[in-house]
Formats: sequence, C-alpha cells, structure tokens
Amino acid sequence: MRVSVIGCGHLGIPHAAAMAEIGHEVIGVDLDQAKIDRLNAGECPIYEEGLPDLLAAHTASGRLRFTTDLAEAAAFADVHFLAVGTPIDADGRSYDTGQVFGAARALAPHLTRPA
Ligand SMILES: NC(=O)c1ccc[n+]([C@@H]2O[C@H](COP(=O)([O-])OP(=O)(O)OC[C@H]3O[C@@H](n4cnc5c(N)ncnc54)[C@H](O)[C@@H]3O)[C@@H](O)[C@H]2O)c1
Repeated sequence: MRVSVIGCGHLGIPHAAAMAEIGHEVIGVDLDQAKIDRLNAGECPIYEEGLPDLLAAHTASGRLRFTTDLAEAAAFADVHFLAVGTPIDADGRSYDTGQVFGAARALAPHLTRPA
C-alpha cells in the first residue's frame, strides 16, 4: 500500500520507517526543509534504537522518501497518517489539536480521490 505520514517527529519518523520495513511504500511530510533533507539522506535526527538502520535501508531502497510537498503526498498515497504534534494547551489540562486540524485542512484541497 502507498501511505503518507504527515509530521516527521518522534512519532512520525519511526512510524514511517516501520511501515516501509513491513513492505509499504511510504512518503513522509514535514514543514521543516532541513529535517526533510537529513531524512532523505538517510540520517536520523532523533534517538530511537534501531531506527538509523531502518531509515538508511529504506531511503536507499526507494521505499521511503520525505518531502515538504503535501500535493506530492496526496497524489502518491491512499492512506494518510497524521503524526503532527499535540502540545499541552495553555490551561495545562488539555491538548492543543491545532496542528492536527491544520494538517488535515492543508491536505484536503489536494485530495482528488477517496483516501
Ligand atoms: N513522542 C512520543 O514519545 C509520543 C508517544 C505517544 C504519543 N505521541 C503523540 O504523537 C503525536 C506526535 O508527537 P511527536 O512527539 O512526534 O511530535 P513532534 O513535535 O516531535 O513532531 C511533530 C512534527 O509535525 C510537524 N508538523 C506540524 N504541522 C505540520 C503540517 N501541517 N504538515 C507537516 N508537518 C507538520 C512538525 O514540524 C514536527 O516535525 C502527538 O499527538 C503525541 O502526543 C508521542
């Protein structure tokens, strides 16, 4: 299956690499161009045991790539995982879901088929 992982942080990078490891074709999306460049070079910007090897293997095989372009992800993938941040809200008791709705709203205009 072709999948996207939108948000390449502590959750998204391992998820993207693991989906590639079990055989899916994966495109990871983030707003941070410098992070995307490192990931496409097979470099792991976070610490997670075993992750550097998975990233290196699957960016090299072509099963895993990264972009800042949501239109590219929309054209490529049939399933989209939102892995953006949900920081603690100003009240300290709930989560700010602004990034989740922001990512969904940014992706939606690019979708031209059921996903
Ligand atoms: N980190 C953990 O150990 C952990 C554990 C369990 C659950 N979670 C949950 O996973 C989710 C993600 O957390 P995280 O720790 O990976 O966050 P993170 O801050 O490390 O990463 C979020 C990434 O999303 C990117 N992003 C934000 N808006 C975007 C957009 N519109 N398009 C593309 N990219 C965008 C940011 O640039 C950032 O790289 C949260 O809901 C968190 O609660 C995290």
